[in-house]
Amino acid sequence: MSVTASPSVLVLGVGAFTQGFLHILREGGADVRGYLTRSYGHYGPRLEAPCQSVDDLPNPCAWIREQQPDLLVPMSIEWAIKPWTEEFLALNPPLLCATGEGLRLERERDFARELCERFGIPFPRARFAPTRATAEHWVRTENRAFVIKNPLCSPTSPIHTIVCETPQDTLAWLPRMDDSEGIFLQEYLGRREAGHIALVSAGEIYPLVTNQEYKRAFNGNLGIVAGAPLGGLVERDENDRYGLVRELLEPLRPWFREVGFHGPVQVTAIRHENRWHVLEYNVRLGVTSGPMILRLLANPLATLLACARNEPLRPVWRENLRYGCNLTLAGYGYPFTQLNGPPIPVNVARPPTCDVWWNEVAAAADGTGIDATGHRLCDVAALGTTLEESIATAYANIRGIRSLGSYYRTDVGQSLWPPGAE
Ligand SMILES: Nc1ncnc2c1ncn2[C@@H]1O[C@H](COP(=O)(O)OP(=O)(O)O)[C@@H](O)[C@H]1O
Ligand SMILES: [Mg+2]
Repeated sequence: MSVTASPSVLVLGVGAFTQGFLHILREGGADVRGYLTRSYGHYGPRLEAPCQSVDDLPNPCAWIREQQPDLLVPMSIEWAIKPWTEEFLALNPPLLCATGEGLRLERERDFARELCERFGIPFPRARFAPTRATAEHWVRTENRAFVIKNPLCSPTSPIHTIVCETPQDTLAWLPRMDDSEGIFLQEYLGRREAGHIALVSAGEIYPLVTNQEYKRAFNGNLGIVAGAPLGGLVERDENDRYGLVRELLEPLRPWFREVGFHGPVQVTAIRHENRWHVLEYNVRLGVTSGPMILRLLANPLATLLACARNEPLRPVWRENLRYGCNLTLAGYGYPFTQLNGPPIPVNVARPPTCDVWWNEVAAAADGTGIDATGHRLCDVAALGTTLEESIATAYANIRGIRSLGSYYRTDVGQSLWPPGAE
């Protein structure tokens, strides 16, 4: 690459995440392309960049070899379990994601538990059960509430997290679980949740934001923990105001160095008996928080490029922005994804004054607008100097978007904030 050429960036994913990254990194001077990893959520990314879809190109390796991107940003860790994974890694791609041993932090829940034990990080009582019967036996013996999880994380896992709050809840759900990969049980520790997202590069941890996700489907944190959050907040937190980095990430520094970990790390935690406990680690920027983090930075492209190369980072923050609020417009049937409606119009009443990233929508057949094609229509994301300002801007914008049967939470920011609050 000559010094004058724009760095080329390939984003792997679909929907709002992919559109947001393509848009913001293009604005930051990158030459962007998308690889659409699923058969939905193409509309938004295609507004921003030339894209290839998995439907036309099931194995992207030859294309990647041709493109020689300077940075690859994956939305999920699906790239690690594809028939083409080995071929992909052999290209030595500048991937913004831990690989090898480092990847296990997200992929294998019991490995994360063991690491926490090794470094003295609080982790809820937890166990891998090879079968439903073993799981049931353990719950009866312990007589505690256990959350039911997939032992191996992937968007295509046979199990999606069921947050059970009593031992009876756990025992009632276990018979419904597909135990072909086993079952991971983790003690239910309440609702005082928060997260932190950092970058790790050249053996150092760079704290970025403390965040909250409103994961329950309805106002008041009622209803099920939906497949993806209904809302999110981020606070610029390079000084770790809430202590999640100090307590849950810094102890891992020797391990990060040992395995050459570089890329994003996100910890989701619960406050229990006055201490943060790890629920899980992820090794990528979150679907809703990722684009907001990029917006808070004055040099997102340079920061991500250096992180993918495992070089020291110099994140520069935009002066006037500290907070972000993301709201999801859910479509007909959500969060009960078995319920499907026909493609129906999505109307945008006025030009947005913040980011609107599209998920499951498509250009209407008559060419005059957008149709809903699934359960999560768009993410509306606003940044601000204060939390109140970012929330107000996001709500002012989502109120202007309408589709029959759609809804959004109207109470984001009213609970679960500041971190540790219920
Ligand atoms: N042990 C637990 N105690 C209380 N709530 C939990 C627990 N484990 C998970 N949850 C809830 O379920 C959500 C999803 O669980 P998580 O471990 O993050 O898995 P995933 O994001 O892969 O579904 C968490 O964000 C949290 O709201
Ligand atoms: Mg999670």
